[in-house]
Amino acid sequence: MLAIQFDEQTQTFHLSNDEISYLLGIEEGEVLSHLYYGKKIAQYHGNFRYPRIDRSFSPNLPGSKNRSFSLDTVLQEYPGFGGGDFRTPAHQIRQSDGTIVTDFKVKEHQIFSGKPSLEGLPATYVQDSEEAQTLLVILEDRFRGLELELSYTIFCDSPVIARNTRLINKGTEKVVVEKLASLAIDFPDTPFELIHLNGTWAKERMVTREALQPGIKILDSKRGSSSHQQNPFVCLASPTMTEETGEVYGFCLVYSGSHETMIEKDPYNQTRLTMGINSFDFRWVLEPNEAFQSPEVLMSFSDKGLNALSHSYHDLLNEHLVRGRFKKQERPVLINNWEATYFNFDEDKLLAIVDEAEKMGIELFVLDDGWFGKRESDRTSLGDWYENSGKIKMGLANLSKEIHARGLKFGIWFEPEMISEDSELYRAHPDWALQIPGRGMSLGRDQYVLDFSREEVRAHIYQQMKTFFDEVPVDYVKWDMNRNMTEVYSKKRAPEEQGSTAHRYMLGLYEFMENLIAEYPTILFESCSGGGGRFDAGMLYYMPQTWTSDNTDAIARLKIQYGTSLVYPVSTMGSHVSAIPNHQTSRKTSLAIRGNVAMAGVFGYELDLSTLSTEEKVEMKAQVAFYKEHRSLIQYGRFVRLLSPFEGNETAWMFISDDKKEALVFYYRVLAEASHPPKCLKLEGLAKEKVYMMENQLFGGDELMNLGFYIDPSLSGDYATQLFYLKENN
Ligand code: DGJ
Repeated sequence: MLAIQFDEQTQTFHLSNDEISYLLGIEEGEVLSHLYYGKKIAQYHGNFRYPRIDRSFSPNLPGSKNRSFSLDTVLQEYPGFGGGDFRTPAHQIRQSDGTIVTDFKVKEHQIFSGKPSLEGLPATYVQDSEEAQTLLVILEDRFRGLELELSYTIFCDSPVIARNTRLINKGTEKVVVEKLASLAIDFPDTPFELIHLNGTWAKERMVTREALQPGIKILDSKRGSSSHQQNPFVCLASPTMTEETGEVYGFCLVYSGSHETMIEKDPYNQTRLTMGINSFDFRWVLEPNEAFQSPEVLMSFSDKGLNALSHSYHDLLNEHLVRGRFKKQERPVLINNWEATYFNFDEDKLLAIVDEAEKMGIELFVLDDGWFGKRESDRTSLGDWYENSGKIKMGLANLSKEIHARGLKFGIWFEPEMISEDSELYRAHPDWALQIPGRGMSLGRDQYVLDFSREEVRAHIYQQMKTFFDEVPVDYVKWDMNRNMTEVYSKKRAPEEQGSTAHRYMLGLYEFMENLIAEYPTILFESCSGGGGRFDAGMLYYMPQTWTSDNTDAIARLKIQYGTSLVYPVSTMGSHVSAIPNHQTSRKTSLAIRGNVAMAGVFGYELDLSTLSTEEKVEMKAQVAFYKEHRSLIQYGRFVRLLSPFEGNETAWMFISDDKKEALVFYYRVLAEASHPPKCLKLEGLAKEKVYMMENQLFGGDELMNLGFYIDPSLSGDYATQLFYLKENN
């Protein structure tokens, strides 16, 4: 039962659904405290309150003589600084007297059905107001006339609470926002381990698990994007938590720019977490009567381990974040020409690939980088989004028609946020690139970043894309972004506003994408940033799938896809079979394991189909047919991690249908081992009372989950794999 209740007598709020409870209290001095977040409690009787203790060196509330209550120790919902709390604050608002000291007190609250959208920012949504309830707590700093709106939305069908914060300047003087976290939460004395997803190009979302020590830990990106290096998702887990057991809290930021998660363990083992836009070099001038909106954070809780936490995110993002006609729709099997040809292609080459793709049952051809301007290498032409007529003699509109005539859809690559020094656009508008007047400009992949905070820059690129789409029939777009921001400065803004440029860029980008998907609702967009450098919930609001990594090596992909699956659904993870030796690792693996890894995502190929042997073509055709047959189970079934590539030589995961009548199990072993023990694999999530047929043998669901089954002992060699299909036996 979904409910948000306010108890006048105890001055507490209780947000709950069938799985979770979240409790906030109003303390003396109208301080908003945090009381509890976790497994559902039926009723809160009001007697669990933070103990009153006189702690040395912990000051009293401003204007109070009560020595036993201090902001320095009490668990809070949205702490500030300068009134006694010496921990890291959730906000930093610089005022006309030069200080950041505030004194926010609860002013009022509202409880209502549904979930408001966030102005200019991506956010989860509900279709029916009965699907969620929202609590707004308004805090007020009377001295400055500042108001904070803390928003909490609890969903009825998921253990998730979405939070965001809005600051409104109702005073008479401007203030400068230096930090406005989307959320803050204080946990009582609890031993936690921190789980986060870090990495680099071609090695995204590596799972790191570490004990939380006293002090402050910051996980962030200062790159102007969510980044390959640190994904905006973290977990706080009980040290004994496993995939199937134990308590874990997740925090997923719905934002694609520079972000910051701060985790502080204080001397009483209390843990504070704040998450939001990176406060480093952030500065937003807020004039009287203006408001600043933070992005959203999705908090989830599981007392049944990490798999259950991931399930709640997969369901939430599929159901309440992805929009448009591709929501819950099966995604096409594609062939992309990037690793097949790089920049070296013409129409004959492309059509030879398309002809083979047609025979294999592939559904979408994607023309990657190199079709526009004078783009023969990555040194030129970004910003000139008209076709390179020397390359495709028949023209792209005709190429698209040829591809459609063969029964495939046509997709194309763009990198709209970038500009090459060697481009018509740069020659006409050199000042459109992010740059600081008089300073040198840092190139990255020989390109600069366009200043998307500027309306005229966005409008020009938009118009070019529109002209293209209006001439060439396009079904899919891969939106790439191949460098991070440097020399962040916008020509149109005053020096004191420059700290807002990176965020204004994101707002401009979101506005651009919103307009584009509204104008072209039939185009399927896949976002990309040198692979998975911007794999985040913010992008998924506009583009329902993401190119997971430029690393297409099957073995490297085990870890990348495993880490990605902690929060992002399989339906969002682009995953392709490529050639051997692999272009990123030089590894040679079988087509079977390359297929089995890529099939655990949104499946496709990225190699020259026209140079394959007959045997390879036969095997690929079978892969495509198998994937199509099971695609709905893979993309939208329950994804369960069984064996972690971060813990050993083997990886296994499975997909279970909602009715538990069928399942697919993928097993991978990296290196062969002499005299290895027989591998017994235990499954999860099946119906214990059902009997399943697997490889012509019958197994009870309870047997498969408790006894397991043996992997074929004759499986030999490095990079081995086995795939199992289970169906209920009636
Ligand atoms: C980076 C992408 O991740 C690749 O897949 C490819 O599109 C290249 N950019 C093209 O420049």
